Amino acid sequence: MIGAGRITDLHYPAYVNFPDAELVTVCDADETVARRRHQEWGTKRWETDYKAVLADPDIDMVEINTPHHLHHPMVLEACKARKHIQLQKPMAHTIQECNEMVAAAKDAGVRLKVIENFIFYPPYRKAKRLLEEGAIGTLLSMRIRLGCAGLGGWWVPLTTWLWRLAETETGGGPVVFDDGYHKFSSAIFFGGAVDRVHAWIDRSLTAIDAPAVISWKHQSGVLGTLDATLQPNLQCTSNYYSSDERIELTGTKGVIWLNRCTGKLLDEPALELFSDGVKTSYEAIETDWEASFRDSTRDFIRSLIENRPASLTGEEASEVQRFCLGALESARRGQPVDLRGEG
Ligand SMILES: NC(=O)c1ccc[n+]([C@@H]2O[C@H](COP(=O)([O-])OP(=O)(O)OC[C@H]3O[C@@H](n4cnc5c(N)ncnc54)[C@H](O)[C@@H]3O)[C@@H](O)[C@H]2O)c1
Repeated sequence: MIGAGRITDLHYPAYVNFPDAELVTVCDADETVARRRHQEWGTKRWETDYKAVLADPDIDMVEINTPHHLHHPMVLEACKARKHIQLQKPMAHTIQECNEMVAAAKDAGVRLKVIENFIFYPPYRKAKRLLEEGAIGTLLSMRIRLGCAGLGGWWVPLTTWLWRLAETETGGGPVVFDDGYHKFSSAIFFGGAVDRVHAWIDRSLTAIDAPAVISWKHQSGVLGTLDATLQPNLQCTSNYYSSDERIELTGTKGVIWLNRCTGKLLDEPALELFSDGVKTSYEAIETDWEASFRDSTRDFIRSLIENRPASLTGEEASEVQRFCLGALESARRGQPVDLRGEG
């Protein structure tokens, strides 16, 4: 594991009681973090130089969970060292970087996967199955809601915030560019490839890329919207980040509601379906957001053993990045952006 900061509290559980992989070493540039994780997780070793991890011939796969500006150079190095890679989102700052990462993985014969955990959240996966079974008929539209609350949720260390203040390191704002990656990937997960995007992105507290309203059209003709706000005084009920996410999928004969994900503002079941005049609440699904990280990581490890691709593949992750960057470009230009026509 390269980069062992806040989010990796949710990465480590994938390796507990999991016979298919062993977490051998933990690497963090901050020696205190590396030592602490080594003790907490009982790894054989700890390191501060990621090149030492890459030089170890016994390591098959690395996780890269570092600040965004390091994703591109570290992935290229890991490819050179012929390690399979699970990379945290967002994939990179630019499409050119994404293309270089995909090409490097292909040339090296290794698998590159971006851990976009939301699409492994059990209620999302069940909703997708319902869609595929035709429970709401043909999908017509989707509405995604993101409320970034200023209060509530788990503790985030100051060091985790600090690098996010510099856009040279993050590549974009915290709402649409950073958290937005999950929303763009969820949109593709439910509605397929996206052709066009049109966005209004304003600023809160100078540096925050919200409020924003982003609309798009899928290749299938499905229309989607994301409505994102910063709510500095909102106390969000959450065991994790103070993010309130909800999705409504509307079809020709029904509606699916995903009422929660990271946070849990609504005291409603995580997944509800209205179809054929009947409302069904799915109560028996695992709803802990942590499950999405566990299932995503384990799926990747199994995919390496079974020699099959695992989502998000580098190519799929690049498409999500293209969608996100297209939204930012649209807001800058004040007009829709054709994602198929952009370089
Ligand atoms: N999926 C999600 O919901 C989610 C949520 C939060 C963060 N993330 C992503 O996870 C990644 C890490 O975010 P975080 O919140 O854990 O940040 P963090 O700052 O807590 O952790 C990053 C760690 O990387 C280490 N690091 C920096 N440079 C390094 C280097 N050269 N070699 C080794 N380690 C180095 C830092 O010391 C730090 O411990 C980011 O890509 C972020 O967007 C995803």
